[in-house]
Amino acid sequence: MEIEAVRAAYRRYARIYDAVFGPILHPGRKLIIKALGCRPGDHILEVGVGTGLSLPLYPQDVRVTGIDISAEMLARARQRVEHECLAQVHAVLEMDAEDLRFPENRFDKVVAMYVVSVAPDPTRLVAEMRRVCKPGGEIFIVNHFRSQNPLIRVLEGLVSPLAKLVGFHPDVGLDDLLRKTHLDVVNIRSANLFGYWKVLRCRSTARVPQPLVSDDAANDESVAATMQEFSK
Ligand SMILES: C[S@@+](CC[C@H](N)C(=O)[O-])C[C@H]1O[C@@H](n2cnc3c(N)ncnc32)[C@H](O)[C@@H]1O
Repeated sequence: MEIEAVRAAYRRYARIYDAVFGPILHPGRKLIIKALGCRPGDHILEVGVGTGLSLPLYPQDVRVTGIDISAEMLARARQRVEHECLAQVHAVLEMDAEDLRFPENRFDKVVAMYVVSVAPDPTRLVAEMRRVCKPGGEIFIVNHFRSQNPLIRVLEGLVSPLAKLVGFHPDVGLDDLLRKTHLDVVNIRSANLFGYWKVLRCRSTARVPQPLVSDDAANDESVAATMQEFSK
């Protein structure tokens, strides 16, 4: 899905987003904010902040910068910040998460809630999250990944060609993402209805030399082993 298709999809969704995706995805947002273990003065970047549903959940003594590619979603986030006097929100900016306009090692924590399966290039998105996160910082992702259940997988495969229309790819594989991004995952937890979404907590470690692993290595056995370890 191209960035223009993402913009078009979220231009359509902006008015109804909170009603449709607010409550149903909120447990995952709460879980991440709790897992962040925010400390006073932490500078946090949230990519794909959307309408800012997560923003009131951050404690008042951190500094949150939210970015998104959709002007219509951001307009709602800005309204929320103003109406709810969210002092912890430092800035809400229109920006591509795959091409962040921040220097390296800028943020203590970098967060992506329900963005990985929407962004045109999830590998690049994660690489940018890593670049701007300080060494020793943490990266948090909540997302739906391709199901292990064969029946649900078939349904996801059927919806996949409609990605442009629905505004997300239901079939992003967690194993593929980990293999390509070399994310240093500390733990994975399930969230939301039926545990269908996963919350990843990752350490920000030394940068991976480019290029990232090619698609030819898709069946790398080490990925399967790592996944088994995480699912224990
Ligand atoms: C499913 S919404 C999630 C919004 C919010 N994080 C939440 O918890 O409700 C996905 C958001 O990611 C944004 N997005 C997708 N690709 C992006 C990119 N490359 N850069 C910035 N934002 C992006 C979309 O515009 C949309 O607002």
